[in-house]
Amino acid sequence: MTNKISIVILAAGQGTRMKSDLPKVLHVIGNKSLLEHVIETANELDAKNTVVVYGHGGELVPDTLSHLPVKWVEQSEQLGTGHAVSQAIPDIAENDIVLVLYGDVPLIKSNTLKTLVDAVKNDALGLLTVQLADPTGYGRIVRNSQNQVVRIVEQKDANEVELKINEINTGFMAVKRTKLFGWLNKLDNNNSQGEYYLTDIIALAVSDNVDINTTSVDNIAEVMGINDKIQLANMERQFQLEQVQKLMLQGVTLRDPGRIDVRGKVTVGKDVTLDVNVIMEGEVKLGNRVTIGAGVVLRDVVIGDDVNVKPYCVFEEATIGVNCQIGPFSRIRPGTKLAEDVRIGNFVEIKKSQIDKGSKINHLSYIGDTVMGSKVNIGAGTITCNYDGANKHQTQIGNDVFVGSDTQFIAPVKVGDGATIGAGSTITKEVPARELTLGRIRQVSVKGWQRPKKIK
Ligand code: UD1
Ligand code: CA
Repeated sequence: MTNKISIVILAAGQGTRMKSDLPKVLHVIGNKSLLEHVIETANELDAKNTVVVYGHGGELVPDTLSHLPVKWVEQSEQLGTGHAVSQAIPDIAENDIVLVLYGDVPLIKSNTLKTLVDAVKNDALGLLTVQLADPTGYGRIVRNSQNQVVRIVEQKDANEVELKINEINTGFMAVKRTKLFGWLNKLDNNNSQGEYYLTDIIALAVSDNVDINTTSVDNIAEVMGINDKIQLANMERQFQLEQVQKLMLQGVTLRDPGRIDVRGKVTVGKDVTLDVNVIMEGEVKLGNRVTIGAGVVLRDVVIGDDVNVKPYCVFEEATIGVNCQIGPFSRIRPGTKLAEDVRIGNFVEIKKSQIDKGSKINHLSYIGDTVMGSKVNIGAGTITCNYDGANKHQTQIGNDVFVGSDTQFIAPVKVGDGATIGAGSTITKEVPARELTLGRIRQVSVKGWQRPKKIK
């Protein structure tokens, strides 16, 4: 019979070195907090339940992440890692295997954890260790002459010989709840930090003739914790490296993998090319042969095949049809839907508007709350005046409309199919189909007019 897994995530520590009012585990990598990353990985394991031990920062941690499927247990005083695990024990069934994770070690992978859980054979204790050239600060793995693990000694309690050991405790371990419970009850805090060390259960296990099976991991970043903003930034780079490698393995061409940020979920078609400093947030879907220029920010967008986004555009919550050309310097705001072959040019802002096939808005325009037909040409500087100071109003433009430059649409207003609007018009009434409409002051010239002269 295979045992069920229960996961305990330690997340009560203060994180003093972050120099922040925010509890350490709520700091963000990608678009998620450190703790969310760990919980997500925990969810990839077939665990029965996940218990998060929180403490520093009070209810802020569980309140912020209350949508996640975990059980929250408070450790009101941080008396050590052993004490922290004890807090979770009442929520774990007798026969479960307990897997201990850390809220500030975000890049651990579920495969590494599966191997660790598999090390709990015949009631052994599984311990994830790694070799570090510089082991400073970590607990050291002490082995006997038969190379069996006999105990862990913390940096602050280690003697000179022990300090030279390069094999360190990552903190990740897996063990039967029944065994763990007994050892936790035997822990004391007679050590240099006056804490109840989880690591002391190793020696207790050894004296109970329990085997310590160590596992390891190739990529050290998986077991690295975060204590300050420098480590947070380094971890962000490591995380981004993982994201861009996934993209490249799916065939995306990145002009520079070091200058792309993925802060969410990106799905891609074939032959996508991303130039430098593209930021993708939330859910981003890119079709086949999409090219995105330098400095583009995409948040929650669906972009169709063969779309070309030129540099420095910002997109939020929009759907872009196939073969559109957008930018440079365009802002596409929430609720925008572009059909195929639409062209949006520089300094154009589109908000909550539907624009049909083949229409063009190439220069310096604001189009908001608009339903626009196909093959419309919007001249430079056209503005939909959609807001009267209290409410938003719609502009409806038919198919094949030609709008001269510097036109203002005072919404609500309708423009019929095939209409032409003369440049500089202020449109306040319905524009009939297929006619020329002008809404501007007639030009006058005053014959014989003289410029005023300066009085001496
Ligand atoms: C711990 C290990 C050390 C290991 C290192 C790996 C112990 C005694 N030592 O040391 O062998 O090499 O991790 O990074 O376990 N926490 C609580 N409640 C507490 C104390 C800690 O939730 O009362 C949490 C912290 O928030 C942190 C984790 O446990 O996420 C580790 O605690 P920390 O104090 O950082 O342990 P280290 O001294 O780094
Ligand atoms: Ca630590």
